[in-house]
Parts: sequence; C-alpha cells; structure tokens
Amino acid sequence: MKNDITSKADIKTFVDAFYAKMPSDDLVGKVFMEVMHVDFSTHLPKMYDFWEMLLFQGTSYKGAPMRPHLQINQIHPITPAHFERWLAMFRETLHDLFEGPKTEEAITKAENIAATWAYKLDYLTKHPA
Ligand code: HEM
Repeated sequence: MKNDITSKADIKTFVDAFYAKMPSDDLVGKVFMEVMHVDFSTHLPKMYDFWEMLLFQGTSYKGAPMRPHLQINQIHPITPAHFERWLAMFRETLHDLFEGPKTEEAITKAENIAATWAYKLDYLTKHPA
C-alpha cells in the first residue's frame, strides 16, 4: 500500500524521481540534455513550486510555464510524441511512488496541460505569427 501525495516533500520526491529518469530518455531527455542543456539545479526548484501551485494552491511559482516551450519548439519541435512520452514517464514515476486521489489529480492535470500545449504548439507551427 502506497501513500498519496500530501506535502511539498512528496512533490520533491516525485519531481526528483522524474528528472532522475529523464536524461536517458531518447525523446524528451534529448531535448533537455542535448538541445536545451537545462541546468537542473535551477529547473527543479521551479518544478517543485509549479506542482505545489497545481496541487496545493501554492503561490511561490512565478512564471509563464508555456513560454519556454514555445521557444524550445522553434529550435527543436516538441511533437505529440514528445508529450505522450513525457506523460508516460510522469504516470510511471507517480505510480511507482504514490497512490490515491491527489496522485490521480496530478496525472490528470499533467494530461490536460500537455493536451492544451500540444494543440497550441501545433497551431503555432502551422500558423506562424
Ligand atoms: C513534451 C515534452 C516536454 C519537453 C520536451 C519539455 C521541456 C522543457 C524544458 C527544456 C524546460 C526548461 C526551459 C528552460 O529553463 O530553458 C521546461 C520547463 C518547464 N516545463 Fe516542460 N517540457 C515538456 C512538457 C511539459 C509538461 C507536460 C509540463 C507540465 C505539466 C511542463 C512544465 C514545465 C514547467 C513548469 C517549466 C518551467 C517554466 C519556467 O521557467 O517557469 N513541461 N520544459
């Protein structure tokens, strides 16, 4: 029996686990490591705050989360396949560690964000400003 996500410490646990898996991934990991050379020491704290905002109404995240993805998409297209892989890794990471309604809420929120962003990126790729 696993516990549900109940705290920022739990968020840190799943974000760290997700980004421990990420670098070796040939689709999403490649974008992070080889295209964007993301510095995880600054990226991960943003993700802790982002998930705290989504799951516990935290107010520390100050950002425009879609914006970097628009920029990345111009350098290296982020396709529906990237979003599917991202979600598969996210679901697997969460289900390895937690179970319960908050865990499912996190997965549903990620699915909704991924669907919205995939649609917008596809639209903007076909209709450049
Ligand atoms: C589909 C594959 C995805 C790829 C390849 C991707 C890639 C990236 C990269 C490279 C960055 C770092 C940008 C930078 O600091 O230069 C980033 C930031 C971020 N990503 Fe993603 N991402 C993906 C999907 C998602 C999804 C589905 C979510 C949300 C559920 C998400 C949430 C965020 C957030 C919150 C940031 C930080 C934005 C900020 O700087 O405030 N990403 N992403």
